[in-house]
Amino acid sequence: MGEIARVPLASIPEGGALRLPGGPDGICVVRIGEAVRAVADRCSHADVRLSEGEVDPDECTIECWKHGSTFSLVDGHPLSLPATKPVTVYRITVDGPDVVVSD
Ligand code: FES
Repeated sequence: MGEIARVPLASIPEGGALRLPGGPDGICVVRIGEAVRAVADRCSHADVRLSEGEVDPDECTIECWKHGSTFSLVDGHPLSLPATKPVTVYRITVDGPDVVVSD
């Protein structure tokens, strides 16, 4: 396990997603209140960035804009078709003002 990305918490839009470089597919970082989640920034159905999708703060999910699969930001599993495979979930820690993403 090691650090693969770092970003100031304040730079992540509340209730939104931000793409960071890192990992094989980039990283989709989502902020819901003070909670931060990170998953691989590639839909498991096709090569589409999840960070361009819509966050549901209440369900803690993100929806792929291409065909509408919704992914859990907790465990990465798709909650609706057509995607059937999970996306990688990354570990988040806080270091002062920064959010640190680790694999
Ligand atoms: S590319 Fe994401 S659901 Fe099809």
